[in-house]
Amino acid sequence: MHQKAAAILTLFRAQEGYLSGEDISRTLDVSRTAVWKHISALRNTGYLIDAVPSRGYRLVSAPDILSREEIVACLRTAVIGKRLICLDKTGSTNTDAFALAEEGAVEGTVVMADEQSGGKGRRGRIWSSPVGVNLYCSVVLRPKVMPHEAPQLTFLSAVAVARTIALLTGLRPEIKWPNDVLLGGCKVAGLLNEMSAETDGINFVVLGIGVNLNMTPEQFPDDLRHPATSLFAATGERIIRARFAATLLNELDRLYNGFLGQGFEPVREEWQLYCNARGRELLVSDAGTEAVRGFFDGVDGNGALMLRRADGRIERILSGDVKVL
Ligand code: BTN
Repeated sequence: MHQKAAAILTLFRAQEGYLSGEDISRTLDVSRTAVWKHISALRNTGYLIDAVPSRGYRLVSAPDILSREEIVACLRTAVIGKRLICLDKTGSTNTDAFALAEEGAVEGTVVMADEQSGGKGRRGRIWSSPVGVNLYCSVVLRPKVMPHEAPQLTFLSAVAVARTIALLTGLRPEIKWPNDVLLGGCKVAGLLNEMSAETDGINFVVLGIGVNLNMTPEQFPDDLRHPATSLFAATGERIIRARFAATLLNELDRLYNGFLGQGFEPVREEWQLYCNARGRELLVSDAGTEAVRGFFDGVDGNGALMLRRADGRIERILSGDVKVL
């Protein structure tokens, strides 16, 4: 978007009612013709702008686009989104963010895309990423923690997603260990965190977050391993994606600052409140090993699942598929 068009949007948002063409032209130091051109360009992008001859222009509504301008308008963060890159299409935002981090991108750099042609899921799976409906977002963080503590950030991002869904829909999401976010038992968001580390510390972590927002049931792939949903499918209402994105980054920022000051414990406690396994019996299976059964006993300081076996022993589970019985 042209810098002056973005500035016109900022002016609209700072004031209620109409703004005269003359005021816009004076404030932004551009000609009246230029104002008119930027207004038409904004209208072509989907902004609904009312024009009344004696009064000027008024922003009526914004389109559902994941643009920098729309996100920044609602962003209230200290670290996350310091640098915000919004792409129309990419292979994978995680791959992009990882490459930027390797080149030295600042902490808080965010890459978002409207569509991914090679969205990556956990365990080498594909993350279905159709255009114009969902959120595909990756965040670069550089916390001073040891590599074995990095999974704590996955828990932090799961809590941020759950909080955002609860705030914007009033629904009560659940988190399935280690990091799927569910609505009504169906997966609505997935997290894929990748890191670069040395033995004595991490260089950076990329938090990859995919949330199904306005996807319709027909848009889900047929071969899903687990049932999936979207916020639209669950509520019948369309989500304004830029608003969701900004709220998510605001929540991530709050949680991350808390994490840097107070460590993992507050995140762990909140994560456990959202966990779908609280007080439940679980069956945990991992490829090639026998499934184990036991009661959920929380997660430990590194995010491992604590399973209380029938003989009272606590087993630490580091990976596997969890089924709530
Ligand atoms: C999962 O398998 O549950 C994790 C899915 C993670 C998907 C997100 S979408 C944004 C980011 N870019 C990717 O390629 N993957 C993550």
